[in-house]
Amino acid sequence: MEILILFETVEGQTRKIVDRVDQQIRGAGHGVRLFNTEDRLASLSFDGIDKVILAAPVHERRHPKNFEVLIGSSLSDFKSRQTLLISVSLKAAFPEGMAEARDYLKELEMRTNFEPDFRALTAGAVRTSSYGYFESQVIQFVVLDGRDVDLIDGVREFTDWDKLYAEVAAFIDATPSQIADT
Ligand SMILES: Cc1cc2nc3c(=O)[nH]c(=O)nc-3n(C[C@H](O)[C@H](O)[C@H](O)COP(=O)(O)O)c2cc1C
Repeated sequence: MEILILFETVEGQTRKIVDRVDQQIRGAGHGVRLFNTEDRLASLSFDGIDKVILAAPVHERRHPKNFEVLIGSSLSDFKSRQTLLISVSLKAAFPEGMAEARDYLKELEMRTNFEPDFRALTAGAVRTSSYGYFESQVIQFVVLDGRDVDLIDGVREFTDWDKLYAEVAAFIDATPSQIADT
């Protein structure tokens, strides 16, 4: 099977997630093609692609614009293929934040008219070393709601890798009639 991963990252955590998922899928004996939706000069082809994974982070309540534009213009290519959307956010790191994490994805779906077959709400990371004053204030008071977070070397990773690998494995193994919802 050949899997296309469309992704975008701002601070690198989604890129790390994509790299790990890439290794997981190759390890299961399938092929992977990566496409960064920030790269406007690259041409995107769905030829020979069986399934598509889309992965992007949430910043200030939404996924990157380029990522959404690319989804909107690829709807016909998604119709005949199973899709998994990995939405990376910090709200997804906390049980009480899951409803909001779900809302970010719902808003993307409403704006693009795209409904993925599978959804993975995935916790991202805090990387204070790459934040300016504005970003740290948003993270501390808006995203983390004033929660105290322990940082090791300026990074705190919340991504639950086992949960993500299980979600990706379920997607890869699904036959076309097995459409799951999270
Ligand atoms: C300026 C800024 C705004 C953010 N806004 C949100 C947000 O509204 N909701 C949320 O759940 N996470 C938010 N986050 C957290 C990111 O989703 C998280 O750090 C994620 O790991 C970023 O992925 P990336 O490294 O691939 O860019 C924000 C992060 C930054 C730096």
